Amino acid sequence: IPLLPYNTFGIDKKARFFTIVHDESEVKNAIIKAKSLQIPLFVLGGGSNILLTKDVQALVMKIEIQGIHVIQENKDAVWVEVGAGENWHQFVLHCIQQSWSGVENLSLIPGTVGASPMQNIGAYGVEIKETFHQLKAINRETLEEETFDWEACQFGYRESVFKNTLKDQYVITRVIFKLSKTPNYRTEYGAIQDTLKIMGIKTLSIKHISDAVIHIRQSKLPDPAQIGNAGSFFKNPTISFEAFEKLKASYPDVPNFLMDAGVKIPAAWLIEQTGWKGKTFGNIGVHKNQPLVLVNYGGGEGSDIAALSQKIQESVKSKFGIELYPEVNFI
Ligand code: EPU
Repeated sequence: IPLLPYNTFGIDKKARFFTIVHDESEVKNAIIKAKSLQIPLFVLGGGSNILLTKDVQALVMKIEIQGIHVIQENKDAVWVEVGAGENWHQFVLHCIQQSWSGVENLSLIPGTVGASPMQNIGAYGVEIKETFHQLKAINRETLEEETFDWEACQFGYRESVFKNTLKDQYVITRVIFKLSKTPNYRTEYGAIQDTLKIMGIKTLSIKHISDAVIHIRQSKLPDPAQIGNAGSFFKNPTISFEAFEKLKASYPDVPNFLMDAGVKIPAAWLIEQTGWKGKTFGNIGVHKNQPLVLVNYGGGEGSDIAALSQKIQESVKSKFGIELYPEVNFI
């Protein structure tokens, strides 16, 4: 089965077996099927964070569990349970329409709701862990449904337990968010403030923030429907305070964000400094506005993109001594 329609990088690879699941019982059946066929099970959401380097010798299970339901409510907040297969941005728009605040900064992120806690998606000063309440997942060994609260997910920067110790052990089926009925505007990110100013916004609303984020993303990031990509290809590295002092001595203008454990340097800056920004190689390349995004102009091979990413890592390592780690999952 061709996976071209199921990955935003637009890579033309195939799945050995493929199934679409709409509810928990279909998930369980697919797990059983993969076991009986003695092949791995590969869980697919929006396909917006994967790089297919070869055909997938697995049962690919596309999650299409739908539904957005308020399960609890008080005067300040709502608890909303969302099917893992719901489109993330459609969910954000639904929240804005209902005046539920908390995810408006995360507008226009590609992918599904079920994938959002996997890597604690984040943008413009907000991460999903701030509105995450619980999730439900099916244990692939016991087929039992289990509930994971905030602590159990072990969220970090683009990290959760599901990418680490529990990798490939659960299928996330539903996510419960706690959203606020009174807006809590998050405008600390410079680009948001600038855009709101340009838009001439005087009285703020969550819709305005969403519109600003959409505007910024559309002006910088390639639309996967037009140019294949998976968003940021690498994570932003955090270096030690000592390493930062040395770096700053040679590059006084290096952009930086102070963290508890060190200093975060934008990978986009490192990639631009090593000369990769906007470079094209046949039908793949490094995006011209946001070098953290690798692109497939059509017909590109995942293995070529993987090779390009390795060259970028080597350049950054040899020029700055800084290691870049992929944010995208290589398949
Ligand atoms: N920069 C450059 N050259 C460029 C572009 C950016 O030097 O051509 C530097 C600038 O100093 C800029 C800084 O990089 O201030 C940060 O750039 P940007 O605001 O575009 O954000 P980012 O750090 O590159 C992260 C996330 C994005 C998220 C944005 C906005 C990661 C890996 N990426 O990118 O997330 O949308 O912030 O909050 O943390 C994704 O994960 O797929 C993703 C797109």
